[in-house]
Amino acid sequence: MSDDPTILTRPARGLSGSVRLPGDKSISHRYAMLASIAEGTTRLENYSTGADCASTLHCLRTLGVEWQREQNTVVIQGLGPKLKAPATALDCGNSGSTIRMLSGILAGQEFTSELIGDASLSKRPMARVMTPLQQMGARISASEGNQPPLRITGGNLKAIDYKMPVASAQVKTALLFAGLFAKGRTCVTEAVRTRDHGELALRAFGAQVEVDGRGACISGGQKLRAIEATIPGDISSAAFFMCAAALFPGSEITLTNVGLNPTRSYLLDLLIAMGVHISVMQLEEKHGELVGTVKVEGSELRGGRIVSPRTEMLIDEIPVLAAIAPYSTEGIEIRDARELRVKESDRLAAIATNLRRMGVKVEEYDDGLRIPGGQQLQGVEIDSFGDHRIAMAFAVAALRARGETTIRNANAAVISYPEFYTTLESLVHR
Ligand code: S3P
Repeated sequence: MSDDPTILTRPARGLSGSVRLPGDKSISHRYAMLASIAEGTTRLENYSTGADCASTLHCLRTLGVEWQREQNTVVIQGLGPKLKAPATALDCGNSGSTIRMLSGILAGQEFTSELIGDASLSKRPMARVMTPLQQMGARISASEGNQPPLRITGGNLKAIDYKMPVASAQVKTALLFAGLFAKGRTCVTEAVRTRDHGELALRAFGAQVEVDGRGACISGGQKLRAIEATIPGDISSAAFFMCAAALFPGSEITLTNVGLNPTRSYLLDLLIAMGVHISVMQLEEKHGELVGTVKVEGSELRGGRIVSPRTEMLIDEIPVLAAIAPYSTEGIEIRDARELRVKESDRLAAIATNLRRMGVKVEEYDDGLRIPGGQQLQGVEIDSFGDHRIAMAFAVAALRARGETTIRNANAAVISYPEFYTTLESLVHR
């Protein structure tokens, strides 16, 4: 983290240029975890540069997995299905993906492990992953309120047929990972479809996963084999630049190597519906994941309404969409987004607080926000609330504010995108 966690953002006149995105956070976690229980050596290029994915690698080392990292290339020596009992607690840092998805693998290991995290992670709900893993036979305890630290004694799992009460790709993935170690066929059914990187990653490592509508099933005892892969760029990081360009008519940016998995790319459809010109080129498929180049041209921004199942498809992009909403002509309403209250911060409260500090009207509901359009933000001092996506969302909104904006704790961006401010500066004209 930088010594000076506060940044000052000055208004811009527009953006232009090209960016190659660092690796997707969701895919990086999953590939690293599966590589560790595969046979052979996995080579991952363009591994996420964020601190969260580094937390996953550090936990894997504590579980006996050897890996080397040279810049963004990570080489992982798989141990096969059996990891080693850890001598110390597994530190998941700020990463909900690490603690929840790794729990699925640890549920299949015949030893006891303890997973800990920072102050924010220690307040996040874990019952959603504990309950189904306990039904499979894992012994799991947590602190009061089912929050981390988690203590897991795994092994001897049986398959379950689980209907997920909460839409969460992390939980779905954890259960499919646990299913690899269970006797029988584990099936997970979602009420609302979430990102399918877990299903695709398992297939990439050679497992058979049957997907049917909103259900996915996996049979236990399958062996995984190592892969060589280049991880697609993170569309949720690209979202900040897309929304920044969208704010300035006449701006034009090109984003290369963007992951365009259909369960993640609804942002493009929404921005197009809001009036932004977007074209996608050089589409290709890598290990089941779509990747392409995206060109974004800013124009006048209309507004939009985001409700389920779109809310779930945009879950990580809502902070930046909300932050630019005042500049749209019709405003943006977001509903069915209660989950945002239990992310790295209470994102609905954080967005509403910052927007109000910047002088605009916002209505906050239990499950969302309504931000009227045609409003001008004023540069003032705001806070990231220790949340990477809040920090980056407001660095984007500040580009069209009147006056300078100070963002306290802006270095929270290291969680998913350490190079964010430098890259944004390289695109901005003043
Ligand atoms: C993720 C799923 C989402 C998302 C998070 C990454 C994943 O969380 O917000 O940033 O990689 O599966 P939930 O599973 O809590 O919805």
